Amino acid sequence: MTYVVTENCIKCKYTDCVEVCPVDCFHEGPNFLVIDPDECIDCTLCEPECPAEAIYSEDDLPAGQEEFLALNAELAQEWPVITEQKDPPEDADEWDGKPNKLELLER
Ligand code: SF4
Ligand code: F3S
Repeated sequence: MTYVVTENCIKCKYTDCVEVCPVDCFHEGPNFLVIDPDECIDCTLCEPECPAEAIYSEDDLPAGQEEFLALNAELAQEWPVITEQKDPPEDADEWDGKPNKLELLER
């Protein structure tokens, strides 16, 4: 099993999640983070840390978010690991909860 970063992280990218991961599974792109499913040990620690509630267990993905399982696996191979929290985008709060952010994903 793995945990998965879903759509609401896009353009929010608060990065609270990376501080608690004991095995450094988070990888950073321009406006989104992903979890490497081969590294995640299902410790559950990151899920409650996300202010945007964007992290789910793969067994508990909300309807419409299923494609993020494969997207996390794919982008984790391309993007570098991030282990320290950084400032979110200045307009992160404005994007929290907005629908249809997948089309805004930069890669
Ligand atoms: Fe890291 Fe644990 Fe979250 Fe997996 S569930 S990404 S191991 S903090
Ligand atoms: Fe994204 Fe939430 Fe982490 S917004 S960067 S999954 S804290």
